[in-house]
Amino acid sequence: MYPLQTLHTFGLHACAQEIEYIHSLAQAKKMLNNLAGRSYYILGEGSNTVFLEDFTGSVLKVAIKGIALQEHPEHYELHVGAGENWHELVEWCLDRDINGFENLALIPGTVGAAPIQNIGAYGVEIEQFIQSVEYLCLLTGELKSLSREECQFGYRDSIFKQQLAGKFIIGMVKFRLAKRWQANAEYAELKALDNPSAKQIFAKVVEVRQAKLPDPKKVGNAGSFFKNPIIPIVLYQNLLQRFTSLPSYPVDKQHVKVPAAWLIDKLGFKGKYIGGIHCHASQPLVLTNNGSGTGEDLLSLAKQIKQAVKHEFSIELENEVQLVSNSGLVNV
Ligand code: FAD
Ligand code: EPU
Repeated sequence: MYPLQTLHTFGLHACAQEIEYIHSLAQAKKMLNNLAGRSYYILGEGSNTVFLEDFTGSVLKVAIKGIALQEHPEHYELHVGAGENWHELVEWCLDRDINGFENLALIPGTVGAAPIQNIGAYGVEIEQFIQSVEYLCLLTGELKSLSREECQFGYRDSIFKQQLAGKFIIGMVKFRLAKRWQANAEYAELKALDNPSAKQIFAKVVEVRQAKLPDPKKVGNAGSFFKNPIIPIVLYQNLLQRFTSLPSYPVDKQHVKVPAAWLIDKLGFKGKYIGGIHCHASQPLVLTNNGSGTGEDLLSLAKQIKQAVKHEFSIELENEVQLVSNSGLVNV
């Protein structure tokens, strides 16, 4: 058995039957016959994955490397291996005055995982820079490419979490970054910046994130545990009668998004412990592991939160993290 504790940022004690490193999609293609009938889990840096217990299958860790840069008159094109670290790519670009990724600084994980949930923070989502995503189809062994439109990006969502779920390994992502850059400093914490450069936005985002979110190198966590729920405006208006300060962000004519952190905070979960699992004191949407937590403790706290939110606000929280049990993915 192979220990997984250091391969997922939540850090629960769990093992897999086998771990294989994938260095290219050609290598992955050769492995496909061996995978038939076996259970496996494709892993980047494990910052959105929690192994709740021992996994009776193989973990395929994507380690496909390489960054290629092409310069065009109006834009840069980047071809980046799925196993590259996201934050290092952000720094690599800023060092070369290639701007655009700065709002997404310090998001843990790999480049290959970024399009799957359309990583987003501080007013920017990765979809706006994606030109295409190259992947191996696990059903047919074909190498395929999807354009940005074909990826069907949404809030923490894409075709990879829907129709293609479980059927692909991403090998490379192609990005397009315009040379003409405009700051995106609309998010509350960035608004105070006066005509900021990309590097100033980067520095501010890093500062805010370090103040608010626990560092997974020190305290086990997987970032936001639940998604921010998108609810009908009618429900929002009903809730406002009881909870006059409930914040909302516009989505479309019929829906708004509400911060799950606010709902969880209101219910008094902030700071609550079950065993070694903690509802983080400065960001209650983040659950943490003090080192002695178990999958059972985590599910138990997550279920309590989910049930309380449903009971009080009639809102169904959905997990944002991927929870892996002994035989595969589960929900709270
Ligand atoms: P993993 O956890 O390894 O995998 C995530 C999913 O992608 C799994 O389903 C896995 O099977 C699949 N997968 C991974 N790589 C591949 C591949 N190459 N091919 C096929 N499938 C693959 N996210 C945000 O959007 N915004 C944030 O601000 C943010 N902040 C965070 C802060 C902290 C402290 C932490 C711990 C996490 C945060 N996250 C955030 C979540 C996380 O960083 C992202 O989801 C990230 O993209 C996960 O990358 P990973 O390589 O660690 O993915
Ligand atoms: N809030 C409270 N109490 C708290 C903290 C927050 O009520 O203790 C309320 C406040 O109203 C605040 C709101 O929650 O304005 C939103 O909080 P915050 O700005 O910290 O962001 P979030 O909605 O909780 C989302 C993402 C983060 C991303 C930040 C910044 C999701 C699920 N989470 O968090 O992504 O970094 O915005 O853009 O969309 C992740 O996905 O892992 C992640 C960390």
